[in-house]
Amino acid sequence: MHLDTFMSLALKGTPFYGYNLPLLRRTLDTIKQEIAGYPFMVHYAVKANGNPRILNEIQQSGLGVDLVSGNEILAALKAGFDPGKMAYAGVGKTDREIEIGIDNDIFCFNVESEPEMEVINEIAARKGKTVGVAIRVNPDIDAHTHRYITTGTSADKFGIDLPMLDEAVDLAMKLPNLHLRGLHFHIGSQVTTIEPFKMLCDKINQLLEHFEKRGISFEMIDAGGGLGVNYEQPEKNPIAPFHDFFEVFKKGLKLRQGQMVHFELGRSIVAQCGALIAKVVFVKQNAAKKFVILDAGMTDLIRPALYNSHHKIVNLTSQEKEIDTYDVVGPICESSDVFGTDQQLPMTRRGDIIAILSAGAYGESMASTYNMRSLPQSHFID
Ligand code: LLP
Repeated sequence: MHLDTFMSLALKGTPFYGYNLPLLRRTLDTIKQEIAGYPFMVHYAVKANGNPRILNEIQQSGLGVDLVSGNEILAALKAGFDPGKMAYAGVGKTDREIEIGIDNDIFCFNVESEPEMEVINEIAARKGKTVGVAIRVNPDIDAHTHRYITTGTSADKFGIDLPMLDEAVDLAMKLPNLHLRGLHFHIGSQVTTIEPFKMLCDKINQLLEHFEKRGISFEMIDAGGGLGVNYEQPEKNPIAPFHDFFEVFKKGLKLRQGQMVHFELGRSIVAQCGALIAKVVFVKQNAAKKFVILDAGMTDLIRPALYNSHHKIVNLTSQEKEIDTYDVVGPICESSDVFGTDQQLPMTRRGDIIAILSAGAYGESMASTYNMRSLPQSHFID
């Protein structure tokens, strides 16, 4: 099993991210099968994991990319992604970043405000180019996910609110160096029911009809990402429910002739193929609690500290039958540096190797050097 391989890799040093590439490939194959025969195109959201080896693997599968910074554009180019399959989103693109996108002739800027359109138009004019854009719409749909990763309600900074959309579309069509390709949406991340995606389809249909009445048609719709994964039982659910997800859009969208639908999936592609592997530094008994203290902390995987999110924790070493209850924590000087409270683990000792599962998305890519720690390494099972 791949976790055993990670345990032997731990002899080289911990903490590290261990990636199961065969699982990543199976995930990518599943996506390709699900969209075959439909006018769908999937972009991988690089922010979820920009590890060059992961990018390379995804590039080989033929997916496009969804990018949120100039450096992500450069990383995607380096990994061999086709600029014709690059979408670039973000509320605060700097002039330099816009230039990187324009100079490399990326497919589409997902624009989030009128000032941004003006600036892109100005820079494009200076370079004598026409730039593809999609307007990011804030559809005011609650994705029922964590407050920090919900993006599509009117309280969020993202996108252009519905009452202001007509004006934004008019502006995009008026600016001579912009080519308006379509509308872009993204309602949030780790969405675990299909209901919000159904609501999104209804909203998209309404908007297509609305603009058609105004004589405006779009060549594409970008429905964003957000498909959630199972953090509770990752071993039983290694591949996200892509069938159900794409089915909603196959059934729900009333597409016009020639119209393409783009998706921007991050977490659902890479979460389950990665685990954070750490070593137990000490087991400490306090008056009320027993702590397993790891050599990995919130600097390696910040999700539990930042979103209170759950990751399954497994002791790879211990063969003990006896189960004990532990808080599994890191070494960082922050009380939020906790991977899991009241974890039932086989009796755990100093030196045991621990795996924190479903850490392939927003793990390595959000790592920091707080406390002057080193960034985590990565190893791959091929
Ligand atoms: N498209 C846009 C415009 C986005 O903002 C995002 C994620 C995605 C696509 C990809 O969403 P996904 O398929 O991965 O859900 N750090 C947080 C997640 C932040 C998501 C930000 N936007 C976490 O660890 O849960």
